[in-house]
Amino acid sequence: MATRTVRIIGDELLRKKSREVEEVTDRINELIDDMIETMYTEDGVGIAAPQVGVLRRIIVIDITPKKKNPIVLINPEVVLQEGEQITSEGCLSVPEIYGKCIRPEHVVVKAKDRNFKEITIDAEGLLAKCLMHEIDHLNGVLFVDIMIEEEKEGSGEKE
Ligand code: NI
Repeated sequence: MATRTVRIIGDELLRKKSREVEEVTDRINELIDDMIETMYTEDGVGIAAPQVGVLRRIIVIDITPKKKNPIVLINPEVVLQEGEQITSEGCLSVPEIYGKCIRPEHVVVKAKDRNFKEITIDAEGLLAKCLMHEIDHLNGVLFVDIMIEEEKEGSGEKE
């Protein structure tokens, strides 16, 4: 495992659409391990593959306080979104900026896990926010694109 360099806003790659993963090769496994390590090193609650420079549809999230329970999602797809919440967001790729966004309160996401088995995640609140934030990265969208209000400190959470 290794920590990879996080791409910062202004980098063209962050604006590109990521490609689907067709199989979990050794290289993809290594990428996932590195994403997890990078997320923990940078003290983030989530990270998407394009943030480490790879245009593949993979996201990793860990919102547990002890940070040892990463959720790995490959080719995630939002199949339901409902309700509304005002979030407080930050991003590993957007240093020093925090702000509020409007996100669905409840989402259902289908994806493949590391074994390429289909999984469904039913999420509300913080996890729903993280899922939408990371999936946006796969489509070249950053939270500052949809931010409704900048915050001085925000939640301090970076994704
Ligand atoms: Ni982010």
